[in-house]
Amino acid sequence: MNISIIGTGYVGLVSGACFSEFGFNVTCIDKDKNKINNLNNGLIPIYEPSLEDLVKKNVKAKRLSFSTNLAEDFENSDAIFIAVGTPTNIKNNKADLKYIYEVAKEIAELINIDADPKLIVTKSTVPVGTGKNIESYMLNYRKELKINLNFEVASNPEFLREGSAIEDFMRPDRVICGVESNFAKSILEKLYRPLNLRETPILFSKRETAELIKYAANGFLATKITFINEMADICERVGADIQEVAKGIGLDGRIGSKFLHPGPGFGGSCFPKDTRALSEIGKEVGAKSAIIDSVIKVNEARKVNMVKKIKDALGPLKNKSLSILGITFKPNTDDMRESPSLVIIPELIKITKEVKVYDPAGMSIAKEMKEFEGVTWMNDTYECINNTDAIVLITEWNEFRALDLYKVKTLLNKPVIIDLRNIYKPDSMSELGFQYVSIGRGSI
Ligand code: UDX
Repeated sequence: MNISIIGTGYVGLVSGACFSEFGFNVTCIDKDKNKINNLNNGLIPIYEPSLEDLVKKNVKAKRLSFSTNLAEDFENSDAIFIAVGTPTNIKNNKADLKYIYEVAKEIAELINIDADPKLIVTKSTVPVGTGKNIESYMLNYRKELKINLNFEVASNPEFLREGSAIEDFMRPDRVICGVESNFAKSILEKLYRPLNLRETPILFSKRETAELIKYAANGFLATKITFINEMADICERVGADIQEVAKGIGLDGRIGSKFLHPGPGFGGSCFPKDTRALSEIGKEVGAKSAIIDSVIKVNEARKVNMVKKIKDALGPLKNKSLSILGITFKPNTDDMRESPSLVIIPELIKITKEVKVYDPAGMSIAKEMKEFEGVTWMNDTYECINNTDAIVLITEWNEFRALDLYKVKTLLNKPVIIDLRNIYKPDSMSELGFQYVSIGRGSI
């Protein structure tokens, strides 16, 4: 089987590398020449554990290649995956589909009406109905094309978490395929056959159902996080412990223990954008989701409230110097998109004497962002902590989980840690003499 994947972002690149690892011939296509040149020279544009090795291995085996030209391999492709971005359109909060339609147009131009039909698969997260709309768009753009006879669009949403995307692709909880014919079904069955050995459930549904499953899954997970964050606020006021509450409810099989970690609010490239898009989908079809609307509002407010939490813990900040550990939206990624740090740090810059920042992977991207103008960038955790009045931990990188706390205490002007990810135990921290402020564990 030959596969073309259009878009070499997280989703496209990870999917391409993994499909080639399954043994298929994959061409990853992007119109960004620089990116493709770099990929051809073994330079991976994103930080994703084991991706580089996987890419190199499959390039060497000649199963994976990179190109700027979709036309080159189009004729031989059995499936063409669209994995371009669908960012929020800031004018209306809906998913911006301009890149999707640019690709659809290009594909429509390349279809040979005398050849076998082409399967086009949306991997990007697209609003419900997009598969159908792409088909209509292509039929309208090139009037001689016919559905089934020349092409068809299927939906195969991704559920990859940044930082564990390869593992998520290779060992998914499930694969969702939205198809309208046996032709589409049989191709997707072949592509995911390597997962049969692991007995991965592969769910076939109508295209609209698959498109909605993606939004519903992300909407539900975002709701779960927001729920536990609200419970953490209640814990702080009633003297309860959110970690135990999460465990206590998570053991109920109907609830489950995952995604119940309280924090400074969810960020990243998916949850914020997909909850906004889901809210708009609901409004558009006359089935407004009050739950999703609240999740969006509560999560935005939470990021701002984290500054209040820091102020409450430290008192006047005007003459204080703070060390920030972690700025990415979660560990094991250099992705800064919609990270809580983008809301918290600009405010801290305004109201403190100094903000020193260290992050294992996010700094080179963050250095270019206006939100961080005025921070002092540090190269190492202890250098960052040195001579500051408190640590604010925003992202739970592994290297922050086992700090040498005796050393930390000597380096800090005052032993204060504000831990927005609950990576330490309050009792042990107070035994060590720290003023330790965390989320939802007894005190505000
Ligand atoms: C998410 C989904 O998990 C994935 O299936 C999807 O298709 C893409 O979006 P990702 O954005 O990479 O993946 O990260 P994820 O691990 O889900 O975390 C998202 C955000 O939620 C992060 O900011 C994280 O810190 C936060 N989070 C997650 C919590 O605050 N608490 C939790 O319990 C889990």
